[in-house]
Amino acid sequence: MFERIDHIGIAVTDLEEAIELYEKTFGMPVTHRETVAEQGVSIAMLQTAESHVELMQPTGEDTPVGRFIAKRGPGIHHIGYAVPDIEAALVDVKAAGLRLIDEKPRRGAADSRVAFLHPTATGGVLTELIESAH
Ligand code: CO
Repeated sequence: MFERIDHIGIAVTDLEEAIELYEKTFGMPVTHRETVAEQGVSIAMLQTAESHVELMQPTGEDTPVGRFIAKRGPGIHHIGYAVPDIEAALVDVKAAGLRLIDEKPRRGAADSRVAFLHPTATGGVLTELIESAH
């Protein structure tokens, strides 16, 4: 069901500073930047040969990523797995009895469709399914 790791999501407090590290020091080009208002987050996607890192700065304290940083500090937030058909993947994980955050796909960055599984269902790892825009 999971094709590959599409990206690792990292919560940051200063997006520009984080981009500097990943782009200039680690040599990973920025392929996409966007503020996803519904998720209260400004993101930058940076590319490696196989996958991406998604740097996420919250737009405010009272957002999912803002609350994450307040509670746990900046750091690894989630793992995003590419799936070919997000509706089918959600049916499968629901059938397996896993608790979901998103019953239905919602809009992610770059017109992708995403859904999160609840970390209590996945050993404490927030897991995102992502179907890229084709
Ligand atoms: Co993500």
